[in-house]
Amino acid sequence: MDSYQRLIRNNRAWADDTVARDPDFFHRLEKLQRPEFLWIGCSDSRVPANEITGTQPGEIFVHRNIANLVVHTDLNLLSVLQYAVEVLKVKHVIVCGHYGCGGVLAAMSHQSMGLINKWLRNIKDVYRLHQAEVDALATEQERMDRMVELNVKEQVLDLVKTSIIQKSWKDRGGPDLHGWVYSLHDGIVKPICDIPAGSAVDDIYRFDNLV
Ligand code: CO
Repeated sequence: MDSYQRLIRNNRAWADDTVARDPDFFHRLEKLQRPEFLWIGCSDSRVPANEITGTQPGEIFVHRNIANLVVHTDLNLLSVLQYAVEVLKVKHVIVCGHYGCGGVLAAMSHQSMGLINKWLRNIKDVYRLHQAEVDALATEQERMDRMVELNVKEQVLDLVKTSIIQKSWKDRGGPDLHGWVYSLHDGIVKPICDIPAGSAVDDIYRFDNLV
């Protein structure tokens, strides 16, 4: 049997098992999704949003890309963000990075890797903003770990810079924003930063005419 066929077989077992435990499960979700959380995470297969947070289908709206970036020209990310914030009205947006992120490691190298260079450029910009702090750390491990944390922090700040978030804060006092880093070593999430709805916006990024 090809390995992908195992997935179909597993799916069938999962669906049967889910109905056995909760006969109304699919009927309920079919009618409505009302997640409280938007998850912006890394595409890394080891950091699945639902599993590591102990949540079920229907609880988290998910966007994943390499190194969990919030790029202000990324139509995909922005569409997910707008839908989650304006239609689903999520209460929390979580940017979750992870230690040992290949995207961050690659960005900190001098290797050209083709198209992905353009994506990783955003992480090099994070380094440039925090170069003094990162360079002062003693070991390569510490520097990479701190870069993963700072990358998450900057992506949360990039959310604040969007008119989508600023308008929603004005309209309905939400969502709150959170930055986390997940450890592949022990499965534990470390909170890095929280920006409650309505927080001050860094002056040059503030829009005053949102209606
Ligand atoms: Co990663």
